[in-house]
Amino acid sequence: MVYAAVLGYGTVGSGVVEVLEKNSARIAEKVGEDIKVKYVLDLRDFLGDPIQDRVVHDFEVILNDPEVKIICETMGGNEPAYTFSKKALLAGKSVCTSNKELVANHGPELLRLARENKCNYMFEASVGGGIPIIRPLNSSLTAEELDTITGILNGTTNYILTRMAREGADFEDVLKEAQAKGYAEKDPTADVEGYDACRKIAILSSLMTGKTVDYREIYTEGISKITAEDFAYAAAMNRSIKLLAMSKVVEDGCFAMVAPFMIPSENPLYGVNDVFNAVFVHGNMVDNTMYYGRGAGKLPTASAVVSDVIDCARHIGKTVICRWSEEKQPLLDISVTKRRFFVRMSAGAENESKAIEVFGGVSVIEVPQIKGEFAFVTDEMSEKEFAEKLAKLDGVITRIRLED
Ligand code: HSE
Repeated sequence: MVYAAVLGYGTVGSGVVEVLEKNSARIAEKVGEDIKVKYVLDLRDFLGDPIQDRVVHDFEVILNDPEVKIICETMGGNEPAYTFSKKALLAGKSVCTSNKELVANHGPELLRLARENKCNYMFEASVGGGIPIIRPLNSSLTAEELDTITGILNGTTNYILTRMAREGADFEDVLKEAQAKGYAEKDPTADVEGYDACRKIAILSSLMTGKTVDYREIYTEGISKITAEDFAYAAAMNRSIKLLAMSKVVEDGCFAMVAPFMIPSENPLYGVNDVFNAVFVHGNMVDNTMYYGRGAGKLPTASAVVSDVIDCARHIGKTVICRWSEEKQPLLDISVTKRRFFVRMSAGAENESKAIEVFGGVSVIEVPQIKGEFAFVTDEMSEKEFAEKLAKLDGVITRIRLED
């Protein structure tokens, strides 16, 4: 018997107990012995719940029980999750987490503590919910020189953008409805401003480079300024708008960014809709690979945590190598990256001739129902060159990057 404990009996924590109990027979076959949740740590009592006898309020009870070998940290946030995870690892207990904030902030340190104490720190559920992406990067793709990761890593924003694309609705209206249905948080800032996707691409980029990519240094733009008109133009170009998190290794280093992009219908991420996530990974031998599934939700996320529990149970007393050092991975300035850009500006002969003079060859985009605007797509140029040219124009309404 392998004993585990769950820290935090919220959506994911209760899902972990459910997955471990519903699939116990199959899991036991895969591990070679049973896995049992011995304790659940929470401030609440959960009277009447089947786990009520296992609820404890003091983390030390778990820490001091030598039978507990694996701890599922499903609390979220930095503290007390960080302190509990550190104490557990120092005591030689493996930690499996869904906590992207903690992994992005302290992942390499916690991995080092796991190595030093012959246990594991695993975080499959921290990116892409139920989608296997950490294990592919850390195991299946280890023969590769990876150079590109591009993903839709946030379910809330993908749901909002999908509804806007399908219904021609405005951002604020869809957000309000998503909040009412529980798809978006009361304070949606972390999702809609791209911070959540930023932490997730920082984790994936760190695994790609083997060094620490600091999420605070990643250029991040959210979707709160995207409008129904932007989607009408995108549709006229046979494109949609997606919040992409991307990271690319080049000769001199690594770029990473999060921003809304107009992507064409041929792009495999175009068809990733609603709360689904997808991650595209390119390696020098395998070429393109893609991972798709539910990026959030109780059972998908819990399933990812339990996959880590199983991996830890298979490696008691041994650390599974994870290439992510505490050394910093410097990020290159995205201003040198090149792409095409979509621009909307107020109509008027002067504005239009100035735009053509400044940008040279532009492809004009027309949407019959939108009046009083001049919209176009530029040729490929660097972010820096684009920003300098755009600054010369009056009446700019918005600009959105294009990705092919
Ligand atoms: N708020 C996150 C999302 C939850 O919408 O994707 C999963 O990390």
